[in-house]
Amino acid sequence: MAEHDPLIVIVSNRGPFSFRLDGSYKRGAGGLVTALAALGEQYDVLWVAAALTKADHQWAEKHANAPQVIDNTRLRLVSLDRRSYRHYYNVISNPLLWFIQHQLWDIPREPNINAETWEAWREGYVEVNRQIAQVVIESLRDVPPEQPILVFPQDYHLYLLPGFLREGLGDRVYLQPFIHIPWPGPDAWRILPAEMRNAILTGLLKSDRIGFQTKQDAFNFVQTCRVYLPDAHSHGARDTITYQDRAVEAAAYPISIDTDRVEAIAAEAQTRLYKTQLINLSADMKRIVRVDRIEPSKNIIRGLKAFAELLERHPEHRGKVQMLALLVPSRMEVSEYEQYWRDVATEAGMINIRYGDPMWEPVRIILGDNYHRAIAALQIYDVLLVNPIVDGMNLVAKEGSLVNTRDGVLILSENAGAVYELGADALVVSPYDVYSTAEAIDQALTMHTDEKQRRSAALRAQVKGANVHRWFQHQLDDALKNEANHASIPVTSETRTSL
Ligand code: G6P
Repeated sequence: MAEHDPLIVIVSNRGPFSFRLDGSYKRGAGGLVTALAALGEQYDVLWVAAALTKADHQWAEKHANAPQVIDNTRLRLVSLDRRSYRHYYNVISNPLLWFIQHQLWDIPREPNINAETWEAWREGYVEVNRQIAQVVIESLRDVPPEQPILVFPQDYHLYLLPGFLREGLGDRVYLQPFIHIPWPGPDAWRILPAEMRNAILTGLLKSDRIGFQTKQDAFNFVQTCRVYLPDAHSHGARDTITYQDRAVEAAAYPISIDTDRVEAIAAEAQTRLYKTQLINLSADMKRIVRVDRIEPSKNIIRGLKAFAELLERHPEHRGKVQMLALLVPSRMEVSEYEQYWRDVATEAGMINIRYGDPMWEPVRIILGDNYHRAIAALQIYDVLLVNPIVDGMNLVAKEGSLVNTRDGVLILSENAGAVYELGADALVVSPYDVYSTAEAIDQALTMHTDEKQRRSAALRAQVKGANVHRWFQHQLDDALKNEANHASIPVTSETRTSL
């Protein structure tokens, strides 16, 4: 590796590998991990993440917190104080920020920003961001001065990182965070007290460029800064914010999947086994499939209500269709998630009680985190229901479109980031409109074969044309271009007018 090749630093809450107590590990299946798997062969990559489990902490301790090379990536796990971590993860990141950005709060009642929230903000969120930044700064100490350093902080857990890194390292580093979840317009951010909101916005504005899933998210970010920060300005295309003599671009990089890998998994024997099992479950019935984390933003309950409405208004489907919901338990330590699961289970149970008979179970919930089984289910759907209230992207829509073998129909929420790429060949619904979602399911179940073939071929082509490797490469190319152009040099009054 030549000395002037950049050092790429990824910083995220969840790291790329999950460790077991015996020291063995499993690579995560997320987009970023997949995108970076090959990148390590080409570049010097350092990944800093929080130690999440007991095994992670043990691993970090064993290596005296020194980075270790795993699969071409130097990994450093940060052991954080349990209490600070709980505050940062369970009170501020999820639910407060997540719920604001997915617009999930039941505003007349929640959230209540109380003393515990403030404590969680100061001693959890701010503190964890500060500590992770400190570890990044320490890890960069011995990087030769001529080697460019590009830092890519990931997601809503680390909004304050760019501020702390800039404070510690000045313009020695190029900072380009990526935000995987939706960025709502300015009004949604009113929920957050001004001190927290300003810390997040001004922290992010210490970056050189910020990546979002869609142009809408990038635009909303620019507008949010303009509304809440009196000195933040944006002109022309509204894709750049100038704040305190720094021009920060907000750009869209829609994430995708590793199409080769997903297709390979679809062909594995284990997946075929699951496919047979799932087919046996629903025999000759048509299948409406959904695959989601148990997550309020996924809108699972309205999906069930839409199914009930279909059975009510189109009784001809009774006994001939099954909803297969593959649900992955998630964040159960956050009370809102636990309650949501209870509500989902009740809703599904009531549908089965009301419409089921000894030969037919209308809704079948399959619980667990099993990627092969999920891919098997996605191969055999007649209808794929992806109806989130709002979603950064939603990769299930892409995975399903790629592997489905039945010319199944995609029903897609108009608020999923994926709608910009897949909407033209899906049936697009409002996530709140249970009636129209039921009608869309009926339309999908009765759609003519030719139309189904046309739509599914177009969806598959779209997904195949935008691999996740391109997603990160595109960000990296832009970062390298910007870095080379000294984009982080303070903006003068002349350059500012041209923005
Ligand atoms: C989803 C979101 C990501 C987020 C992740 C965190 O996958 O799309 O943006 O980073 O959740 O999940 P976790 O299980 O680590 O809380």
